[in-house]
Amino acid sequence: MEALEYVEQHRERFLSELAQLLSFPSVSTDPAYREGVAACAQWLMEHLHTLQPTRVELFPTAGHPLIYAEWQRSPELPTVLIYGHYDVQPPDPLELWETPPFEPTLRNGCIYARGATDNKGQFFTHVKALEYFIRTAGAPPLNVKLLLEGEEEIGSVHLQEFLQHNAELLRCTAVLISDTAMYQDDLPTLCYGLRGLCYLEVTVRTAAADLHSGVFGGVVDNAITVLCRILSGLRDGYGRVTIPGFYDAVAELTPEERQALEELPFDAAQLRAQLGAPILFGEVGRNVLERRWTRPTLDINGIIGGYTGSGAKTVLPAQASAKLSMRLVPYQDAEDIAAKAEAAIRALTPPTAQVEIRRLHGANPVLIPLQSPPMQAARRALRRVFGREPVFVREGGTIPVVEWMQRTFGVPIVLMGLGLDHEGAHAPNEHFHLKNFLRGIVASVEFLREYARTHEP
Ligand code: BES
Ligand code: MN
Repeated sequence: MEALEYVEQHRERFLSELAQLLSFPSVSTDPAYREGVAACAQWLMEHLHTLQPTRVELFPTAGHPLIYAEWQRSPELPTVLIYGHYDVQPPDPLELWETPPFEPTLRNGCIYARGATDNKGQFFTHVKALEYFIRTAGAPPLNVKLLLEGEEEIGSVHLQEFLQHNAELLRCTAVLISDTAMYQDDLPTLCYGLRGLCYLEVTVRTAAADLHSGVFGGVVDNAITVLCRILSGLRDGYGRVTIPGFYDAVAELTPEERQALEELPFDAAQLRAQLGAPILFGEVGRNVLERRWTRPTLDINGIIGGYTGSGAKTVLPAQASAKLSMRLVPYQDAEDIAAKAEAAIRALTPPTAQVEIRRLHGANPVLIPLQSPPMQAARRALRRVFGREPVFVREGGTIPVVEWMQRTFGVPIVLMGLGLDHEGAHAPNEHFHLKNFLRGIVASVEFLREYARTHEP
């Protein structure tokens, strides 16, 4: 039976299984959801058991568990390692959801729930592709390994160590990940570059405790004011980062890349309207796609300090902190940038304050060669499924495992995005288009087949 037919026949069950997967509040960042993460991992373990893996195992970590399964056929055949993450972002702000984030709902041809597109709906396409092979042919056409992480949204803090200690277990000839986006609806897309991330928390102290601003204002500095001055010293009005040495390693686009980028259909006015921004922002002389995918940024993600309750309080805050992150591009290095940022922050701190800087997490940017056999197999598979030539894009987001796998295993990677930019990842009313869920299953089947067929040892 063909994959499309199988998918159509089992559509209702696939959707109800996806809804079950989405009903677990597997929020990795907040300890209050610990049970939700564990229950989700347990459900996945049970689900994978039904697919006759030759091995399936839950690996506890110091944080949330990793799930590993394999369908081992023969050492002669190529091996695809599929990666996904079952943890999700917090659902807040809850009041902006039209239906509750962990009560998956079908409407407008989409499934709505936290994690629908990022990343449960996307990785589940591969699980269902495996089911297709197992139920119709007994096994996939090559060796398959599946690694599902529970900490991607918090920087994959325990994954690097796991990769280092389990290189043999994870040995493969290609990696397949669906955790990016299609460039446009109905336009098949392969991603060949991701930005990295350097995440810091900066805390400023100006006194041992909060003070009466009338009694001590004028003789003790204000922690919030100091913090604001430090933060505003880190980038200019166009978003250009002013940390010394920040751009040293940044590579300009090659002429071929620039041309490919300019050939992508793009409408800045439409994007502006869609985002509800008065006017788009960013570095002068660089177009939007270039800024989103190929330029580094610095953003303040949150500020904590002082009195924020209702009414007024005349307080001189002794402490204030900010969460600050920088998106990195080739060939910046997360450690090097962290050190440069720390030096800049210290240099901007006046003698009236003390500053403490914590590194929360980091990941390097990555560029993936387009010519690898699995990438080309993916291109042919997508062309067949979508009836259109796929586009190659870079993306602005970060998936830490990609750079680690490329660097430590030297293995070719395929980023086959099935989501869309406007599906509300990390935002209220996250959803995933059912047609892409179903087509994604077929695309995964076709990719595994095509790669198995054309792989040369
Ligand atoms: N799926 C995203 C990564 C992504 C987003 C890739 C958009 C391409 C386009 C992933 O789940 C994610 O959100 N990653 C975090 C990583 C961080 C916590 C280390 C991110 O980019 O903020
Ligand atoms: Mn995410």
